[in-house]
Amino acid sequence: MAKRVPAPLLRRALVAWYTANRRDLPWRRTSDPYAVWVSEVMLQQTRVDTVIPYYERFLERWPTVEALADADDDDVRAAWSGLGYYRRANSMLAAAAQIVRDHGGALPHDVDALVKLPGFGRYTAGAVASIAYGKRAPAVDGNVQRTLARIFGIDGDVTSGPGSKAVWNQAAILANCDEPGDLNQALIELGALVCTPRNPACEQCPVRTDCVAYAEGRQTSIPPPRVRAKKKEVELTMVLIVRHGDHLLLERQPDDGLFGGLWCLPMLEGHLDPAGAADEALRRHGFELDGVEEAAELEAILTHRRLRIRIVRAHGGPARASGAMKWIALEALEDYGIPTVTVRALRAALTPDERARATLKDRRNAGARPG
Ligand code: ADE
Repeated sequence: MAKRVPAPLLRRALVAWYTANRRDLPWRRTSDPYAVWVSEVMLQQTRVDTVIPYYERFLERWPTVEALADADDDDVRAAWSGLGYYRRANSMLAAAAQIVRDHGGALPHDVDALVKLPGFGRYTAGAVASIAYGKRAPAVDGNVQRTLARIFGIDGDVTSGPGSKAVWNQAAILANCDEPGDLNQALIELGALVCTPRNPACEQCPVRTDCVAYAEGRQTSIPPPRVRAKKKEVELTMVLIVRHGDHLLLERQPDDGLFGGLWCLPMLEGHLDPAGAADEALRRHGFELDGVEEAAELEAILTHRRLRIRIVRAHGGPARASGAMKWIALEALEDYGIPTVTVRALRAALTPDERARATLKDRRNAGARPG
């Protein structure tokens, strides 16, 4: 059972701590609902440091919902390259179109209307409604989930079922106040800076005297460590074809699959022997080839999959690059949305000359999370 801590006291301690300790982040200098939305989408699954430059570039290029609705989808995916979880960019494009069509270009104020937009879950809707519009709506992300589970001593799984319900209930009680945006961000910030997953800095916590987990010395066992599902192992063969030393064959992935809408090396299922099965499969797909050879191997960990990738270099190509295939100048790669795994494959398999011409965006900062 959750211990009852008087909500007004808890709120006051949280907001006072936030006011004194909040990081100066670009999305905290605005209350533009569009900017808040962009930040909240980018921050899902991605670290603050990684998000900042992407957020700034994105808003400079598409400063309004209308601008985003008018954007070329491929340009938006290119701008997202390296952030991972590309479905977020596709959903933002769909939502922007819907906001222009149904809401005159302004994000709706209410959670009920926001959650009807593509890509808006309860969290994003609550964050936008409370931070941008001052609505008394809860917003529970992973940080808030952990922080509230500890403060209220909510046992068991808090990611679904009754545990999740209990957390959202407590969040709703706390957000029912005059400054719900600050209150929600206080919880997010406390979870990010103090109430961290493994070594929480309880001595710095403004609400430790009200915290059930702290009182019981259970801060590292609430919430219980998640048992992660074993990732599915997938074997893939990626096909690298460079024409005249300067054009690369890429294939746009279907919108609804893995890497939806992004440009990848043509892929074949399985680890195919270059001179045998890979050569045959490519010929079956209409390629005219002068040989296929091994180029590199790599592993990539995605959210639900572990990819074991063999990269082969083929000489020749499709009779015509049509449909989803396109010859792209190495110098123009930066204009395309290319997933990190493909960038890694290119880094591993291009020749030094080709690599020098290829404009592959630096991903050193990205990939901190799978994507
Ligand atoms: N993570 C999710 N939302 C955030 C915010 N508004 N500030 C910092 N980190 C966040």
